[in-house]
Amino acid sequence: MTVESAQPESGTSADPGLREPPLAGGRVPLLGHGLRLARDPLAFLAQLRPHGDVVRLKLGPKTVYAPTTPGLTGALALSPDFIIAGPLWESLEGLLGKEGVATANGPLHRRQRRTIQPAFRLDAIPAYGPVMEEEAHALAERWQSGGTIDCTAEAFRVAVRVAARCLLRGPYMDQCAERLCDALATVFRGMYRRMVVPLGPLYRLPFPANREFNRALADLHLLVDEIIAERRASGQKPDDLLTALLDAKDDNGDPIGEQEIHDQVIAILTPGGETIAATIMWLLQALAEHPEQADRVSAEVETVTGGRPVAFADVRRLTHTNNVVVEGMRLGPAVWILTRRAVVDTELGGYRIPAGADILYSPYAIQRDPESYADHLEFDPDRWLPERAKDVPKYAMSPFSVGNRKCPGSDFSMAQLTLITAALAARYRFEHAPGSDGTPHVGVTLRPHRLLLRAVPR
Ligand code: HEM
Repeated sequence: MTVESAQPESGTSADPGLREPPLAGGRVPLLGHGLRLARDPLAFLAQLRPHGDVVRLKLGPKTVYAPTTPGLTGALALSPDFIIAGPLWESLEGLLGKEGVATANGPLHRRQRRTIQPAFRLDAIPAYGPVMEEEAHALAERWQSGGTIDCTAEAFRVAVRVAARCLLRGPYMDQCAERLCDALATVFRGMYRRMVVPLGPLYRLPFPANREFNRALADLHLLVDEIIAERRASGQKPDDLLTALLDAKDDNGDPIGEQEIHDQVIAILTPGGETIAATIMWLLQALAEHPEQADRVSAEVETVTGGRPVAFADVRRLTHTNNVVVEGMRLGPAVWILTRRAVVDTELGGYRIPAGADILYSPYAIQRDPESYADHLEFDPDRWLPERAKDVPKYAMSPFSVGNRKCPGSDFSMAQLTLITAALAARYRFEHAPGSDGTPHVGVTLRPHRLLLRAVPR
C-alpha cells in the first residue's frame, strides 16, 4: 500500500506561522482513509512518516491528526493541551465504567494516580516477587506433559492471575482467579469489536456471542464487587492496591465512592491482563523463532542461578533476558495505537492542531521505523546494550508511553516479563505446532493470531 502526501497548505489561522499538516494520500470518496485503516491498520500507519511529521487523515467526514516521528509522539504525550477522550474511550467507559483512572482527566485523574501509584512504585514490586515466582514456575510446570500449548489462553491466564493476586491480595482472590480469567478473556474477545463498530442496541440482541459477552461482563462486575466485599469483611489491610483504594480520600477528605473503587479495580486489571498476555505471546514466538536467543537466555539463567529455579531477586542480573523482553516489545507492541484529543487550539511540530481535534499515533510504527532503527525488522536484543542503545532516538522506544498517562505498571510488567521469560527458556525450547499462526492480530492489543507451540524440555 502506498500513501502519497499532498503538499502542506499554508497557514490560515490566527497564528500564520503554523502550517496545516499534509493530507495523507490514498483517500477514497466518502470513506477517506478509513477503509485502508480498517483493512490493514499496521501497514497503513507504518507508511505515514515519509509523508509528513504530522499528517491529516480523513475518516469519513472527520479529520484526524497523526504525528509520525518519535519526537512528536513524545511531545504529544507530554503536552497538557491533549487529553484522553474520543469515541473509542467513550465506548470503553460504557463497558468498563466511567470512574477509572484510564479514562479520567484533569484533577480527578491526578488524584487517582496519587492513590494507585504507591502500589506500583519500584520499592513496592519486591513484595510481589513470591506470587510472580510461583505463577512463572506453575506455568512452566503446566507445560511439562508435552502436547500443544494454546499460548493465547495460557498467556492470558498467567497475566490475569499475577495482576489480580499481586494487586488484590488474599485467599479469596487466589480462589476466584480462574473465574476472573474466564470473564476477562471473554470480555476482551468482544471488546474491540464493540469499540470500533459501535452498534449499540444490536449488541443486546440474544445471539449466542452477545449472550456470552454480556454474561462475562456481568460476571466481571459481580466478581469485583465480591472481591471488595470479601476484603472489607475480612478486616485485613495488606499493603496493596485494594487497601489503597479502600482508604483513598477525595479532594474534600471524604472516602471515595463505591462506584469509583469498583471502576478503579476494573480499570487497572483490564489493561494489566491484556497487555502482559499479548507481550508474553510475542516473547514465546520470539523464543520459538530465534532458538539461539532462547539458548542465550537459558545460559544466562544458569550463570546467575547456578542451576536452582530462577527467583524474583535474580531479575536485575538477567540483563540479556531483559534485552530480549525489550526487543520483543519493540517488534510486538501490545499497545499498538494511542489516541488523544486537543483541548485548545494548539500546535505540534509547527503544525496547527485545532481544539477538539482527535489525534492518533502508533507505537508499532514508531518502534519499527527504519529511520530510528538499523535493520529495523531484525530481532536483535543486543541493540539494547548500553553502547548501542544510546543511538536510539528519544521516544523511539516508549512502549509504556511518557508523561502523565505513562503506564503505572511499567516496572511491575518488566519484572514479571523478565522472570517468566527466564523461567520458561531455562526449562524448554519452543517450536511452532501445526496450525500455529503468528501473524499479528489487531484488537484492543496487538498479539499473534493463534500461537500454538510445543515445549521441548532442555
Ligand atoms: C496505561 C502500556 C502493563 C495498568 C498504559 C499506557 C500504555 C501502557 C502505553 C498509556 C496509554 C495512553 O497513553 O493512552 C502497557 C504495556 C504493558 C502494560 C505495554 C505490558 C507489557 C500494565 C499493567 C498494569 C497496567 C501490568 C496494571 C496491573 C495501566 C493503567 C493505565 C495504563 C491503569 C492508565 C494510566 C493512566 O491513564 O493514567 N499502559 N501497560 N498496565 N496501564 Fe499499562
